[in-house]
Amino acid sequence: MTYERSTKGLITVAQNRAVNKLTLEEASTELARLADVLARANIDYHQKDAPFLSDSDYDALRIRNHEIEVRFPQMKRGDSPSEKIGAPLSEGFAKIVHAVPMLSLANAFNKADVSDFDERIRRYLGLKQDLSLSYTVEPKIDGLSLSLRYEQGRLVHAATRGDGQVGENVTENAKTIGNIPHVIANAPEILEVRGEVYIGHSDFADLNERQSIEGSKVFANPRNAAAGALRQIDVRVTAERPLQFFAYAWGELSEPLGNTQTEAVARLAAFGFQINSLTETCQTIESLLAHYNNIEAQRASLGYDIDGVVYKVNDLGYQRRLGFRSTTPRWAVAHKFPAELAWTYLEAIDIQVGRTGALSPVARLKPVTVGGVVVSNATLHNEDYILGRDSNGSAIRDGKDIRISDWVQIYRAGDVIPKIADVDLSKRKVEAEAFVFPSSCPECGSIAAREEGDAVWRCVGGFICPAQGVERLKHFVSRKAFDIDGLGTKQIEMFFYDDALAVKEPADIFTLAKRDTQNLTSLKNRDGWGERSAANLFAAIEERRNIGFGRLLFALGIRHVGEAAANLIATHYTNWDEFVLAIDEAFTSKGAEWGTLLAIEGVGEVMATSLVSAFASPLERRAINRLVTQLEVRDAEVPKIEGSPVAGKTVVFTGSLKKMSRAEAKARAENLGAKVAGSISTKTDLVVAGIGAGSKAKKAQDLGIAIIDEDDWFQMIEAL
Ligand code: IVH
Repeated sequence: MTYERSTKGLITVAQNRAVNKLTLEEASTELARLADVLARANIDYHQKDAPFLSDSDYDALRIRNHEIEVRFPQMKRGDSPSEKIGAPLSEGFAKIVHAVPMLSLANAFNKADVSDFDERIRRYLGLKQDLSLSYTVEPKIDGLSLSLRYEQGRLVHAATRGDGQVGENVTENAKTIGNIPHVIANAPEILEVRGEVYIGHSDFADLNERQSIEGSKVFANPRNAAAGALRQIDVRVTAERPLQFFAYAWGELSEPLGNTQTEAVARLAAFGFQINSLTETCQTIESLLAHYNNIEAQRASLGYDIDGVVYKVNDLGYQRRLGFRSTTPRWAVAHKFPAELAWTYLEAIDIQVGRTGALSPVARLKPVTVGGVVVSNATLHNEDYILGRDSNGSAIRDGKDIRISDWVQIYRAGDVIPKIADVDLSKRKVEAEAFVFPSSCPECGSIAAREEGDAVWRCVGGFICPAQGVERLKHFVSRKAFDIDGLGTKQIEMFFYDDALAVKEPADIFTLAKRDTQNLTSLKNRDGWGERSAANLFAAIEERRNIGFGRLLFALGIRHVGEAAANLIATHYTNWDEFVLAIDEAFTSKGAEWGTLLAIEGVGEVMATSLVSAFASPLERRAINRLVTQLEVRDAEVPKIEGSPVAGKTVVFTGSLKKMSRAEAKARAENLGAKVAGSISTKTDLVVAGIGAGSKAKKAQDLGIAIIDEDDWFQMIEAL
């Protein structure tokens, strides 16, 4: 593809040249030009009304840049545009204060609740029972809400709900949604359109299929997929996801949209928004409930998820008078569908073995449709759950145990993994026996053990257990660990069980390319693999040979050592070799180094024991050493504390922050060498009080601790 400046100074996308035909030199020249063009396009886009590249040309150039980078990873530039969409990941999304708060809805669960709702409204407005009051009835879409702000008919920003007061700026992401107009004719000067972003059922199924083929994350439900897709730092990812938008409400308006909810929503439709065709107006409680039943009956065939029905007072004058409680309008209510239940037959109880050897029982069910979704598995958690008691020994399901061949009631609420709500004892076969939890691993035959105080049985087979081996590798390549492009769970399973490829432990991933060139494995001749995909994979693996200490430690999948702990430990020891020496010393002497390990914030006895035992176990140690010889382990980044006014200080954030999320504020402070605490104590040095800071700010005041607001905080750390 070439793109050149035309006489008008525009850059045009003219022709395509296959990326795999480019020489190294051409790739390098083109990447430089792309970096330049895209950088200028970004500046233009954000600062001018008429950017010189159309959205689609811009996207095409970014995709082109990405493709060249994938093919020539060694040519990726320090200023690569692929690192630059929006703000960098660590900074998350910018914040937008909603001009009108984005509220949620009160819930009703039955007829009595709906009557109460109607009565309250009549009382509030002083209307007699016999005076007719019109309501709109519409599906409650199970997605995530979005506010779109148009000024002079142009979409200027889009924000998620956030905490209702402050949301995230997802403008670029929202612009990729096909049925959100960028420009509206004859719109009020200021128009905020609100509605729900969602993914339809068939798009969701296609998306998950694609994800699974690519070895990427498979989503639990359409809402999760939609939320993940909208909140992508890389807008290209959002653009690839099949998001849609239903408009049903509004925020700030420079002029009213109509006199009734129905009129206003019709206006939104006239502006080009999709509105829900199942919306009706009803005058009586009976008709509200009738339409509720009608919508519920259509639920499975609508093609998108809904979790209830919303009733709204139709007259906007009444809506204005009714106003809001702290978080919900008085003029609307969500009549939720009951949690979905269905009876089915329990065919078997399988035991799955996880990365740390945990044996997890899974119910295999005769497939049953629960609210439009076919369920054939349900979690059984652990031995106690099957026996009808919780971790404290108290009865669950009235103490009924679960047996193979039982009739069980499946419960599915929203995105919750299906569970077993009940057992029909009247249908239990006389020969059905109580389930006996296995005392050996079904995968490798090793003994399983259940430690005192632990609800879980674990296989003690460690490295000899293939199930643990595969799960460890899946964890090793996962996003927060080595994150190797093109190496997902599917590929790991294939590579693990393929005798020639024999990827049994992490080091084998890094020797794969070498073994391949020696023609020992020839990945390219295997099903689904060709010359190019194999080369791409090897390049992606190569890219990860250089890895940060924290990521490496997390990737090892040592029990109890999560991502945050791994990073804390890495920051503490900085250098991998020094860390290993210290861990060995901690194991052998349990002396000073053991104390040092325990003094790290977030590291307790249990984690420390797990860590040192992993390094002391000969098999694990051999695998770690083999891996590390394949890698260049970068020292952990030591927080930049030079000149930092908060280095070594304990800081507490309280109230809600306008400019960044709590998580981000915390990370930033920690990078400046501060310790961030969750509560005020005499050890606190500084309190940053956001909007609505209450008791904590008061306590700080009483203790004479310095309190500053968010703006002061930014001023203080700005220069760093
Ligand atoms: S009206 C002032 N209508 O449900 C409140 N909300 O549980 C305006 N939702 O945050 C909301 N479908 O994200 C409204 N037809 C619908 C809806 C709907 C889904 C969501 C919305 C809201 C949440 C409250």
